[in-house]
Amino acid sequence: MRDNPFKFGTVVDGIYFTDREEEVSEITSYLKSENHLIIISPRRFGKTSLIRKILAASGRRFIYLDMQLVLTEGDFAAQLLKRIYRIFPVQKLKNYIKSFRIIPTVIMNPVTGDVEISFSPGSRDLAPLEDVLNLIEKLGKAEDKIIVVLDEFQDVFRINTGLVRMLRSVIQVHKNINYVFMGSSESMIREIFEKKDSPFYRFGILYPLGKIPEAKFRLFLEYNFQGITGDTGSISENILKISGAHPYYTQQLAFMVWELLSHKGQTEEMVVDFAADEIVRSHDNDFELLWNTLNRTDMLVLAGMSESNASPLSEEFRKQFGTGAASTVYSTLQRLIKKGMVVRDAAGYFIDDPFFSRWIRMRRRV
Ligand SMILES: Nc1ncnc2c1ncn2[C@@H]1O[C@H](COP(=O)(O)OP(=O)(O)O)[C@@H](O)[C@H]1O
Ligand SMILES: [Mg+2]
Repeated sequence: MRDNPFKFGTVVDGIYFTDREEEVSEITSYLKSENHLIIISPRRFGKTSLIRKILAASGRRFIYLDMQLVLTEGDFAAQLLKRIYRIFPVQKLKNYIKSFRIIPTVIMNPVTGDVEISFSPGSRDLAPLEDVLNLIEKLGKAEDKIIVVLDEFQDVFRINTGLVRMLRSVIQVHKNINYVFMGSSESMIREIFEKKDSPFYRFGILYPLGKIPEAKFRLFLEYNFQGITGDTGSISENILKISGAHPYYTQQLAFMVWELLSHKGQTEEMVVDFAADEIVRSHDNDFELLWNTLNRTDMLVLAGMSESNASPLSEEFRKQFGTGAASTVYSTLQRLIKKGMVVRDAAGYFIDDPFFSRWIRMRRRV
């Protein structure tokens, strides 16, 4: 029996990765320009997978850092420096590091060649970060720029609210680096790069990453269901109907459907619904906890959205679900967007997690 060809939760590559041809060529081209890049999308749309694929294919020198892992200003500097050690010879770095204002402790693992780096732990001094960023600039060349990717960039605010200003002042004079800022919290990333009084206002090309087009995703699903079911077409279609072609949720549901078809001898009719119910059941605890963090208006709006395709701001919707004034619904939606529970796209507002939406419906149906 073949292994399950679907994968969700972590970065995907190779056979698990589909489409994004246009995005790959556009982003690759931007990275060859003099401009910095800001990639935004809701969580789990595939930003990290996409940039990692582009970086690997670029043949360029790059540094990738997920800001969610960074604890303090000193840790930020140490994490960057650690990655510099992976792409440049120790001997070359030694001369530069000698001139740092704070000399880091560097411990080399003689077996793996990995380095452990720290700048007096706990220190909130900004000098190391500045020195490390300027080191990257010195190591790059105008015609062979180093790509620096800061993923989940909105987390800089958690480290230190003043950090954004400092970063801008250092980064703006760099000529030998292409910076890529990526973020999931759409409103916060827009705040950083689109608000006039933000230090990063219009700092680079803003690139919103969309979902994978349904037709393309469908081909990927059909291909991977071959040999497992005789009805790849309608199974794929039903999966996309439930997942809304969301990259993560589509893979999650396809994974479960594949399991049911191949191992459990499930018959094909209803298999997609059955798989979706299975996923909902497995998250019952999380969903219940999540639900209990909400206030009454949040609940009313979400319950309505789980049942109706009408815009939550419309009169029809507000009447049917008793949510109150449009302004109340509007501020509720903004709050739910900030929490990542609601997403807004060109088609309107929708609940991010189709299984949470299904859970709400199931719970209320009784
Ligand atoms: N190009 C793709 N092809 C197929 N599945 C994808 C693709 N991009 C993302 N996914 C699915 O979405 C999940 C989340 O992707 P990830 O790159 O971690 O998103 P993000 O960084 O935006 O949160 C992956 O584990 C995978 O299941
Ligand atoms: Mg990511």
